[in-house]
This record gives sequence, structure tokens and C-alpha cells, in this order.
Amino acid sequence: MSQVLLQQDQLKQKVAQAAVEYMLHNLAPGSVVGVGTGSTVNFFIDAMANHKARWREAVSSSEASTARLQAHGFSVLSLNDVAALPIYVDGADEITPEGHMTKGGGAALTREKIIASVAQTFVCIADESKKVEHIGQFPIPIEVIPMARESVIRHVMRLFTSARIVSRKNADGSFFSTDNHCEILDISGLKVTDAVVTERAINQIPGVVTVGIFAQRGANILLVGGAQGVQTQYF
Ligand code: A5P
Repeated sequence: MSQVLLQQDQLKQKVAQAAVEYMLHNLAPGSVVGVGTGSTVNFFIDAMANHKARWREAVSSSEASTARLQAHGFSVLSLNDVAALPIYVDGADEITPEGHMTKGGGAALTREKIIASVAQTFVCIADESKKVEHIGQFPIPIEVIPMARESVIRHVMRLFTSARIVSRKNADGSFFSTDNHCEILDISGLKVTDAVVTERAINQIPGVVTVGIFAQRGANILLVGGAQGVQTQYF
């Protein structure tokens, strides 16, 4: 592993630990924990496993996180059985000074957005490479119903003439399939000046399940890891 990746992993590990410490101060024992998806969240799940006497139950935004939680002995509940979720901890591919995020690099955007909509507090954990002024440098994922792939591409191209769109594929060239049996389109070349408006516009295209812009419901707290340690930012 390169030195840069190693350092990035150390930052991810630090913010994951900081999220657990945040929970120790702000989350009642016995609460159900909302758990996101991705490499930063994997460190968070591992760190949370040291406190299983305090929190034993979680809701999860992907099959991958569910498997990791269960391997540590956590019970993973259906969101349908959870009326309130005080905290949701998840990573981001990009985060702006307003707390708007791009998410879905790991393809779990739909379940992430659903859980985020239920949670009282969204705690975003990220290394400082994720901080941006405007979202859109990272390709924005859209989860689509498979039969709508080409019509969604045409709609997006009409709305944003600068957009470049690729279908996410597996190594063998087949279309990538999400946990919800849908496909992913990745859009680059967008100049997103108003993330809320762009999120709404893409969400309204027939066949779009979810766009990976999290602006209408952004983060409440960012724990960001950098050379100076972990900083906390409130939105
Ligand atoms: C998963 O679908 C994503 O939204 C992740 O939260 C995001 O991609 C961050 O992942 P990493 O922690 O692996 O960078």
C-alpha cells in the first residue's frame, strides 16, 4: 500500500474513533445506531465493536455493512422496526462548507438517503481530502431502475449539456447491480452551484431511484481528520 493511502487510512481510523467518542458523550446506552457504508465506516464499525455492552443494535445502509456488523456480533434491525434513530454515522465522497455531500461512490446511496431521512443527527466522518467548495468534482452517482438507464441518460443530457455520463460496470463488463437490484450512472462535468436545486431536478426524472447529492438533508456534524488531528464542524 502506498504511503499516501496508508496515511489516509490512518485519518479514517481516527475519525472513526472520534465518532465513537462522540457517541459515548451523546448517545444513550441501548440506542439503535444508524450505520452507513464505505471504508471509513468499516473502521467505525470495528471501533464500535469495543462498546458492544453499550450498543448492540444497528440499522445498516448496505449488505456489506450488515455483514461486518453481524461478524462483530451486532444485531442488525430492519428500519421498518425502528421508530426513531438518534444518530446516523456515515462517510462522504465530498462535503462542502454547508454540509452538502456527494455520496454513493460505494453504491449504497439509496439506503443511505433513507436512513439519513429518519435520523435525528447525521454525523459525517471523513478525511480532509473529501472537503470541497462545490460538489461535482467527484462523479455524482444516480441509482436507476434498469429499464430506465438510457432514458435517464437522455434526460440528464438535456438538463445539463456539460454532463458526461457512464454506466457503472463490473470487471467483466456487465452492468453493476446495487443491493436494490438497480444500476448506477456516474455523472461528471457538472457545475453544481445550487446543490438543493440540482438534487431536486435529478430526483424528478422518471426512473431515478436516488441521486447521490445529499443537500436537502445534509450532514449535521462533520468529524474531519487531517494533519492537525480531528476537527469538528457543525452545520
Ligand atoms: C457509499 O455508498 C458512500 O456513500 C460512502 O459513504 C462514501 O463513498 C465514502 O466512502 P469511503 O469512506 O470509502 O471514502
